[in-house]
Amino acid sequence: SSEEQMYRPNFHFTPKKGWMNDPNGMFYANGYYHLFYQYYPDGNKWGPMHWGHATSKDLVKWEEQPIAIYPDNDKYIFSGSAVVDVNNTSGLGTGKMAPIVAIYTLHDMTKEKENKIDVEQQDIAYSNDYGFTWQKFKEGNPVVKNPGIRDFRDPKATWDETHKQWILVLAAQDRSQFYKSKDLKNWEYLSDFGKNIGAHGGVWECPDFFQIKVKGTNETKWVLIQSLNPGGANGGSGTQYFIGDFDGKSFTLDANFAKRVEQEKAVWIDYGKDNYAGVTWNNVPSADGRRLFIGWMSNWDYAQDVPTFVWRSSTTIAREIKLIKKGNDYSLISNPVKEINKYVSKTIKGKSLKGKGKLSILEAGKLDLTQAIVNFNLKNIKQDTYTFILSNAIGESLTFGINNSEHYLFVDRSKAGKNDFSEKFASSITKAILDGNQKEGVFKIILDKTSIEIFYNNGEKVITEIFFTNQPFTSLSVSSNEGVELSNLLINQLNIN
Ligand code: FRU
Repeated sequence: SSEEQMYRPNFHFTPKKGWMNDPNGMFYANGYYHLFYQYYPDGNKWGPMHWGHATSKDLVKWEEQPIAIYPDNDKYIFSGSAVVDVNNTSGLGTGKMAPIVAIYTLHDMTKEKENKIDVEQQDIAYSNDYGFTWQKFKEGNPVVKNPGIRDFRDPKATWDETHKQWILVLAAQDRSQFYKSKDLKNWEYLSDFGKNIGAHGGVWECPDFFQIKVKGTNETKWVLIQSLNPGGANGGSGTQYFIGDFDGKSFTLDANFAKRVEQEKAVWIDYGKDNYAGVTWNNVPSADGRRLFIGWMSNWDYAQDVPTFVWRSSTTIAREIKLIKKGNDYSLISNPVKEINKYVSKTIKGKSLKGKGKLSILEAGKLDLTQAIVNFNLKNIKQDTYTFILSNAIGESLTFGINNSEHYLFVDRSKAGKNDFSEKFASSITKAILDGNQKEGVFKIILDKTSIEIFYNNGEKVITEIFFTNQPFTSLSVSSNEGVELSNLLINQLNIN
C-alpha cells in the first residue's frame, strides 16, 4: 500500500517484508560487508527468530540476501556474532577460504513456557563460502552450556591479538561475562563485569568488546559496549559503554572513566531513543583499521507498534567509532561512515546566517530533505535555547537544538506526525546532557524520510530518532531569543537508490 512505502526509509536498511530487530554477526570478507539481523519473515511483530541477511560493498547501500540461519521449530536463533577464522583455528574450514564462524544464542521456547532456567545456550554455525550459506555445528553444539542463568545470551566473539586468544563476551542478566578459547569451539569462563556498575534499569543484552587505539597515539584501551532494556538514556532500550583495560582475564574500568560512570550513572553511545543492540564489524580491512558499528533504529518500548505493516524496523546509518582522550578522560565518538559522501548529488552552501527570532535556513523546494546530510556550526552560543525546526506543508514539525541554560542537546518529535500508536513514543523530549556552557556547536545531521541522526561536536554526543510524518519535511529554520549565528552551512542531498 502507499502508506507502507510512505514510511520506508530511502536508504537505511529495511527488510522487504517481515520483522527485524538486532543487527547480528557482522563481518567483512572478500569485498562485502555482511549484516545479519534478528528476523521473523512471516509477521510484523517479533516471532520465531531467524538470522536475516544483507550485504553491502560500501556500508551504505544494502542488498537483501536469502535467510542465513533458520530456527528448528521451537528453538529460535537469537542474537550473536561472527568471525572470519583466518587461520582455521576451528578446523571447520574445508577449502582455501577461511571459514566464517557464527556464535549465537539458541533460545528454547518450550523450556521458556515451562518456566525453566536453562532456556538459553550458545551454539555455532559456519560458512565455507564467505558467509552466504551456513551449516549448524550439529555435532558440537552447544559450545557454551547454560550455567543456571535465565538471561544468558548474545555472544560476541573477537580475536584478542595481545593475548593470542579468542574472547567471548555475553550478557548474563545483570552483568557481562568473558570466556576464552583457542578454537571457537571450547570455551573457558574467565570473569564477570558490571554488577552494580553503570545503568541497570533492565536486563543487559548484546555486548561487544574490543581493543582500540586512542586517536592520534599508539596507546590502546578496551571498550565494552553493553545494551540494556529497559533503562536507556531517554527511556526504553539503550546502549551504554565502558572504557578500561583487559589483562587477558578480567576487564577493569579506567579510573577516570569510573568516576564519570558514577557521576552520570551511565555513559551512552547514543542518547536518542532509537539506537539499540548495536555492535561492531569483525575483520574490517586492517589497512584502514576502522571500528565500524551499526544499531537497530528502534526501541522495544514501541517497535512492534510503529505504523509500518509489511516490514518493521530499520538499521541506523553505519558509523565509525573512535576513542579520544581529553586530558585524562577517554570517550568514544561516532560519526557516519565516510562512504556516504560519495552519494552526494547536490550541494547547497549557505552564507553565514545571523539574526534574531525565526530565520530560514533552507526554504521548501530547494533540496530533498528526505535524503540529506546537513552540516553547520552554531557560534557564539548564549544562555539561550536554539531551536531548529524541520517542517512540512501540513504543519508537522520536528525540533532539535541546544538549551544552553540547562546545558543539553534535544530532539522533540511530539509534533512530527503520527504518534498515537504508543504513549511512550513522543511523551518526552529526548535530552543529551552537555558538559557546561557551550560556546560553539558543530552539527552533522543525517536525514532520511523517517529518521534523524544528530552527530554533535564531531560525534561526542549522538541522538538518533525515528518519526512518522504524513508528508516529508521540506524546510529547515532556526529560532532563538538572543540571536543566532550560523557558519559553515553545507547541505548535501544524497541519491542512494
Ligand atoms: C535484544 C534481544 C536480544 C535477543 C534478541 C531476540 O533486542 O532481546 O537480547 O538475543 O533480542 O530477538
